[in-house]
Amino acid sequence: MNKEGLHIVNHPLVQHKLAILRDKDLGSKDFRELVDEITVFVGYEATRDLPLKEVEVETPITKTTQKMITGKKMAIVPILRAGLGMVDGILSLSPAAKVGHIGMYRDEETLEPHEYFFKMPSDIEERQVLVVDPMLATGGSAILAIEALMKRNVSPADIKFLCMVAAPEGVEALQAAHPEVEIYTAALDEKLNEDGYIVPGLGDAGDRLFGTL
Ligand code: PRP
Ligand code: URA
Repeated sequence: MNKEGLHIVNHPLVQHKLAILRDKDLGSKDFRELVDEITVFVGYEATRDLPLKEVEVETPITKTTQKMITGKKMAIVPILRAGLGMVDGILSLSPAAKVGHIGMYRDEETLEPHEYFFKMPSDIEERQVLVVDPMLATGGSAILAIEALMKRNVSPADIKFLCMVAAPEGVEALQAAHPEVEIYTAALDEKLNEDGYIVPGLGDAGDRLFGTL
């Protein structure tokens, strides 16, 4: 595992919120709220290296040189369904970001991902893209999503992957397939179980977000 390309956002507030999120008795409403709150912290870290330009500002007191964000505009790309839970958190940081959607489900037997929907902003190849999905398990869904974006001429250097919980297996697979893609997660868990679920994890993120358990 390449520790340089992996950012674990282990702020005490994140660890506290994640402990609550993992509880199997937490209802969908609270689950959604916590995913939203944790996403803001993960997104804060993922946007730490945004380029800045100098601008002149006149305050009520004096003229001053300050800094504002420049460079590529942003796009958020949730992997459906569970990635939808992370969109509002990123939009609260970058309200003008455009949102593209990739629909993907994992075959429960083979764990292979299958794409069923793809709709991007028309200028996606010119944007900094944050792919969001709460779970990085085998890594198959994230890898397929990134490859779908690359087919639309998005450079992997312009893609970051943001999640709540990552398995070491998923991090290794994603880094092996696309080493340029930086990974931001609230937690690096222990392993995958024989059913491809993250341990300790938080269960099926889509079902918990949308109450389809
Ligand atoms: C979950 C999760 C990821 C994927 C992760 O989605 O939200 O997209 O599994 O697993 P992987 O890393 O092994 O590919 P799921 O297929 O359950 O679809 P859903 O979000 O519609 O429930
Ligand atoms: N998808 C989930 O929603 N949870 C896991 O633990 C693994 C894949």
